[in-house]
Amino acid sequence: MKRIVVIPGDGIGREVMDAAMLVLEELDLPFDYIWMDAGDDAEKRYGKALPDETLEEAKKNDAVLFGAAGETAADVIVKLRFELETFANIRPAKSFPGVKCLYDDVDMIIVRENTECLYKGLEYEVDGVTIATRIITRKASERIIRYSFELARKEGRKRVTALHKANVMRKTCGLFRDIFRGVASEYPDIESNDYYIDAACMYMVTNPQHFDVVVTTNMFGDIVSDLAAGLVGGLGLAPSANIGERHAIFEPVHGAAFDIAGKGIANPTAMILTATMMLRHFGYIEEAKKIERAVEAVLAEGKTTPDLGGKLKTMEMAEEIARRL
Ligand code: NAI
Ligand code: MG
Repeated sequence: MKRIVVIPGDGIGREVMDAAMLVLEELDLPFDYIWMDAGDDAEKRYGKALPDETLEEAKKNDAVLFGAAGETAADVIVKLRFELETFANIRPAKSFPGVKCLYDDVDMIIVRENTECLYKGLEYEVDGVTIATRIITRKASERIIRYSFELARKEGRKRVTALHKANVMRKTCGLFRDIFRGVASEYPDIESNDYYIDAACMYMVTNPQHFDVVVTTNMFGDIVSDLAAGLVGGLGLAPSANIGERHAIFEPVHGAAFDIAGKGIANPTAMILTATMMLRHFGYIEEAKKIERAVEAVLAEGKTTPDLGGKLKTMEMAEEIARRL
């Protein structure tokens, strides 16, 4: 029996979590769900966005399934990733047949370093001068870069591309680039190249087919993963997994989306595909494929929420997916 800590959080996090649960419950999985609070509402209620009990449960169980937090996201999900040392944030961006988007042939996996960089939160203010410290270490860089090459091998991918800005941030990005080139030389079976992050953003829009596995530092990874999601139909379709040596956190790329929260129109696909990433992590490959096929069928038939031009509500789309299981 796997024990999963479920944290719906704020805004559409709760709506898409209910939808994912409806789909998961169609399958006979040996999972125990432990529902816990975190986020803006939790902060109002308990005085802490990530209550101690939630963090404790997250630490002692097998995985966390997370919806979204609102303005407290840095204190909740960023903190959870650090606390659970889930160093690799895996964010696939893939076109789905039938979904209207910029490209119908994108299939990349962004591997984002998850434990350091500017998101460490080391910010200070002195007399109107604000300072942020960017931490990039040899240890974390080598770990994430190696992870991306191993992932490329495991998934039968042909190329790993690193994104950095080593011409300006010579020390921090310079270290990341140099380690990338060194590790790449140990994987002659996998093509490799590296780009400056700004040019890479253009290439990603003009020629996204070039990108296969992409590895980068924390903040760049946050930004380019939303960009990549935009290429294939938006955040409603983008799942992610945070993987560490002992822990794993599964969460969609999107946030609480307060602009649509409460209307029941959030696309549940990102959250449902996030759940399939959890199933794959635990070795339930056939079950994951079953859900993925059902999602693809529903998307191809245009039975979607308004973000993709459909008319369905969040739960109606989830029911369409569940029905096909
Ligand atoms: P967001 O990711 O919540 O939304 C960006 C845009 O994408 C919005 O227009 C939204 O309606 C749309 N969108 C997102 N998910 C969607 C879905 N499933 N279906 C249809 N449309 C979807 O980012 P935003 O608006 O910048 O932030 C909103 C709140 O979420 C903020 O308080 C922010 O701090 C928080 N946030 C939390 C994250 C997390 O918990 N991991 C990540 C990003 C933002
Ligand atoms: Mg983000």
